[in-house]
Amino acid sequence: MAKEIVVSGIRPTGYLHLGNYFGAVRNYIRMQDEYDCYFFVADWHSLTTHPDTKSLQESVHRVIAENIACGLDTNKACFYVQSDIPEIAELYLYLNMMAYKGELERTPTFKDKVRQHPENVNAGLLTYPVLQAADILIHRALKVPVGKDQEQHLEMARNFAIRFNNWYGEVLPLPYAFNYGDSLTKILSLDGNGKMSKSANQMATIYLNDDDDMIRKKIMKAKTDNGPTEKGTPKPDYIQNLFSLLEITSRFDVITKFEDDYDDCTIRYGDLKKQLAEDMIAFIKPIREKANAIQNDKDYLSKVIKTGADKARASAAETLKLVRKAMSFNII
Ligand code: TYM
Repeated sequence: MAKEIVVSGIRPTGYLHLGNYFGAVRNYIRMQDEYDCYFFVADWHSLTTHPDTKSLQESVHRVIAENIACGLDTNKACFYVQSDIPEIAELYLYLNMMAYKGELERTPTFKDKVRQHPENVNAGLLTYPVLQAADILIHRALKVPVGKDQEQHLEMARNFAIRFNNWYGEVLPLPYAFNYGDSLTKILSLDGNGKMSKSANQMATIYLNDDDDMIRKKIMKAKTDNGPTEKGTPKPDYIQNLFSLLEITSRFDVITKFEDDYDDCTIRYGDLKKQLAEDMIAFIKPIREKANAIQNDKDYLSKVIKTGADKARASAAETLKLVRKAMSFNII
């Protein structure tokens, strides 16, 4: 039986951080054994906010190197660069004809970007979710492993697929945001202000490239409080975030100890942070070292990129054939 198709992408706008890892990459690694996976570096998307392309190639290489260092196996999953697949741009054009200005203007990520960069509200930014839909629909994917922040974009991709199918016939399956748990992941910034992100407070974001001292420094500065004084006090979200990170990186007995300390109101956040910092270092260090080695191996990287492009283009061309036929283009 044919495996279900999975697609997901990451913008090359900086080093990957724990949010990218736990919201996306961790699932890629698990899914590559069970699904027909297409993962990619969304370099066209990065142009919507980062028009300077001088260091783009280096950033693309970094994203690939970090994914492989995390355990992505390019013999199992197809890993490619978005701009190597011109078929995506053609599908983007068609989908743009069925995307309405009003719905695009209402997209929360668009409104955020307008607030942050009022001097650069370009059409690419407005149609960002359309390009994202094209990325997904070009392989007729069903599952899209992403973090919570992408939920809205996935809903829009579904809507565009529904619209296409209604107008031109059933061609595109309806994709949805996927996580192995029952909800999508959101890793918070260590200062407690919103989600961890490549562009927000860098001292509150842990990058997979941070060295040991930097990891210690950032975790020891993470926001905490005086601790609970009454049993049964729910954890504030910034404390829950530290526990979530502990769950991901620490041994079971360590997690249980701090959970128990929290429950009986004896928790010392200084101790928790020290433990978390050491466990996080043990988790990140091998990834950082492996990513650095891969990034320096340009021959290997270009082989990976070429192999990925060939496979992704073959899949994209098949979909585009169906799309064009449904739209009565090029029928000979
Ligand atoms: P990007 O590059 O911002 O993020 C890559 C992935 O990391 C997830 N993520 C998080 N998850 C949990 N907590 C966080 N703090 C956190 N920060 C980031 C994101 O949800 C994402 O899964 N628009 C996408 C790129 C994209 C794409 C696609 C994704 C382009 N086309 C098609 C899926 C399918 C983006 O900006 O991701």
